[in-house]
Amino acid sequence: MDSRQAEIYLVVTLAMLFIVAILLYLVFRIIQKQQQFLRLQRQVVKVEMATLEKERARIASDLHDDIGPLLAAIKYRMAVVTPGAEQDQKELNLCAGHLDEAIVRLRQVTHNLLPATLERRGLVEAIQDLVVSTEQLHPLRIELITDLRVPISKESEIHLYRVIQEGLANCIQHAAATCFKIRLTADRRELTLQLMDNGIGISKKVPAESQRGRGIAGFRNRATLLGGHFSLDSEPAKGTVLTFVIPK
Ligand SMILES: Nc1ncnc2c1ncn2[C@@H]1O[C@H](COP(=O)(O)OP(=O)(O)O)[C@@H](O)[C@H]1O
Ligand SMILES: [Mg+2]
Repeated sequence: MDSRQAEIYLVVTLAMLFIVAILLYLVFRIIQKQQQFLRLQRQVVKVEMATLEKERARIASDLHDDIGPLLAAIKYRMAVVTPGAEQDQKELNLCAGHLDEAIVRLRQVTHNLLPATLERRGLVEAIQDLVVSTEQLHPLRIELITDLRVPISKESEIHLYRVIQEGLANCIQHAAATCFKIRLTADRRELTLQLMDNGIGISKKVPAESQRGRGIAGFRNRATLLGGHFSLDSEPAKGTVLTFVIPK
């Protein structure tokens, strides 16, 4: 190879190296931009969810503080009315019954919006409350298996609680199941939450995840926000298993 050929090889090699360097730089920039976008998106969802929780808390205390005392006052006033006829007494008793029901329902609604136990006594006791109140209302056996002893962050608690609420609501609304299991376990690094039912399974006809209701999309959002991941395992007639793995 004469010196001129060597020169050409050198120039071509340098030019190729230059092009490869530019390509690598472009790929690097695209990845960087994508990561930036994902971070931003996560931030937006985080703010949205925090706003949602705040709004729920506001509605809960409005209902609790305004409507609750109003219902109690009506009930009190009715108790001091002296009915003129037997029929009036019957009507009054009926209204008192409706009022009692309205007070119980109001308590359930405010509890769902802002579970006080979660604030005061933590996730496990809040789940236990949810299990008891749900079993009272629905013919469903609910099992809670947990070895969680150490406290976890408030943020994780509220997301995991919402996930369990939605999983349970889905089971009641869609699964036709007789049994629902909540398994919450932890090792040194991770928390694993599994929600299992023995129902009909998620139909294949249910559209892709992005077009489903907000429940299933919310599962993935909440898992991502906590830096973890979510998986759904469901087969017709074999029930549904939702798994969340979250770093501690
Ligand atoms: N545990 C379940 N068993 C059977 N089907 C389910 C279950 N959970 C969800 N589905 C199906 O997936 C759909 C989407 O659920 P979701 O995103 O929570 O929305 P929504 O409950 O508002 O319909 C439901 O409409 C139902 O068809
Ligand atoms: Mg749902």
